[in-house]
Amino acid sequence: MTERPYVIDEMISAKAIAARIEELCRDIHKEYGDTDKLIVVGLLRGSFVFIADLARELDLPVEVDFMEVSSYGDAMESSREVRILKDLRGQIEGRDVLVVEDIVDTGHTLNHVMALLRSRNPHRLRSIALLDKPTRREVDFKSSWIGFEIPDEFVVGYGIDFAQRNRNLPFIGSVRFTDPD
Ligand code: IMP
Repeated sequence: MTERPYVIDEMISAKAIAARIEELCRDIHKEYGDTDKLIVVGLLRGSFVFIADLARELDLPVEVDFMEVSSYGDAMESSREVRILKDLRGQIEGRDVLVVEDIVDTGHTLNHVMALLRSRNPHRLRSIALLDKPTRREVDFKSSWIGFEIPDEFVVGYGIDFAQRNRNLPFIGSVRFTDPD
């Protein structure tokens, strides 16, 4: 299949992301400032850049773990079914946990992951997503913290891909197809 040509328009600059992460970390600190050790759980693969910046900005004792769940495959539409491809390495019972996601879109992914982790009886469980597309929501899910609300556009960069590409862009950009169709 030949790829449709597209360009990427910058939507959120690297500087704006860094400034927002500083603000978010101040808020997280207010809630988790008394923790012995916060387990920061990144959802692979889209959150890998966000969790790296977030974890380094957090002035708290932090442990890092990852989960991988299936969502889009290589297509631009969400498959509504959420499957766990890789589970946590560690136990979270009685622990403080912060789940880190790139985007809340329909809400199915985080809704499912949070319900699963809640069933393991953590002490405190919250979520943070860099981006939120509230107009796309199909389930009643609200993340504890959100970096930016964005319109219903397909975005890439800062860890987020389109068919596994563009994850290494330092900013968030929206995909605009340039073919006549
Ligand atoms: P949800 O289950 O529909 O909320 O989907 C969340 C997941 O869909 C995110 O973790 C992303 O992997 C993916 N996703 C949603 N919107 C976009 C986008 O604009 N670009 C790339 N991936 C997206």
